[in-house]
Amino acid sequence: MIRQEYLFNMSNAIRQKLGKYQIFNIDAFLWLSNAKPNSIHAVVTDPPYGLVEYTAKQLEKKKNGNGGVWRIPPSFDGCQRSPLPRFTILNGNDKEALRSFFDKLARELLRVLVPGAHVFIATNPLVSYLVYEPFISNGFEKRGEVIRVVQTLRGGDRPKNAHQEFPDISVMPRSCWEPWGLFRKPCEGRVQDNLRKWRTGGLRRVSDTEPFKDLIYSPPARGIEREIAPHPSLKPQHYLRQIVRAALPLGSGIILDPFMGSGSTIAAAVACGLESIGLEVNNEFFGIAERAIPKLAIYNPSGDNNNGPEY
Ligand SMILES: C[S@@+](CC[C@H](N)C(=O)[O-])C[C@H]1O[C@@H](n2cnc3c(N)ncnc32)[C@H](O)[C@@H]1O
Repeated sequence: MIRQEYLFNMSNAIRQKLGKYQIFNIDAFLWLSNAKPNSIHAVVTDPPYGLVEYTAKQLEKKKNGNGGVWRIPPSFDGCQRSPLPRFTILNGNDKEALRSFFDKLARELLRVLVPGAHVFIATNPLVSYLVYEPFISNGFEKRGEVIRVVQTLRGGDRPKNAHQEFPDISVMPRSCWEPWGLFRKPCEGRVQDNLRKWRTGGLRRVSDTEPFKDLIYSPPARGIEREIAPHPSLKPQHYLRQIVRAALPLGSGIILDPFMGSGSTIAAAVACGLESIGLEVNNEFFGIAERAIPKLAIYNPSGDNNNGPEY
């Protein structure tokens, strides 16, 4: 296990505004089982949904370009797209494995989180029920969903090998949104009591006049951001910074990403001046995170011309 705390080679003024973070090259469940109860104030994560796509065998297939569960999408609109995992191929056993994965995750998180802590968890319309049900049955309150409006390459295809025979048919809708489940560990007493004692229970408003909202337009990470953090499931800073900011209502506490991949959540927390902890089991992705976090944290999403307008 590698444990790292980073200090940036920057002026004091900038360093003081950046959040502290720790990252660990470790299995999330091992880390969670050793973590203190009531020690984490929010979770923002994009889990693997697998068990399948992030196994060594499937990662090897992706690397060699022969697919496996990774669909290599055609290049279109001038951009070469990254491979996407195909969730539709999950069979009954895979679904059961997912359900028990999220059951275990919810159980561990309920213990480690402080009362009133929120969990933002990325999912997709095909499998979200396999995530939500275990969270609810383990005692989390469902607090809604954040809809990230983003056009992915999932769905919209004509029937495979029969597209000429059925030119007017899409097998399933072309996906234009990504649901992020929003859960809360029950508060101790009223929200105001919980806020005083644990600093959690609500979501940080965007401003005096604007509450946090559950619809966020956010295009896929592209261009410089993707060069900095070449992970197949990279989430954009534009989106994650809004989420991590909302997750700590009083702007203090610790955000955990148990499946940090390239560390994009951690970078977003650093950029927002928030404390965070990231976990990643895969050595190669952990290496990407080590290098990417300091760069992503100072990356300006609105300054990247390649970060196109498509949602
Ligand atoms: C969907 S990706 C997250 C990508 C991330 N959103 C980003 O922007 O880079 C999920 C990550 O979880 C990691 N992972 C899978 N099982 C894990 C486990 N048991 N403990 C820690 N990390 C795990 C995978 O290696 C993968 O990098």
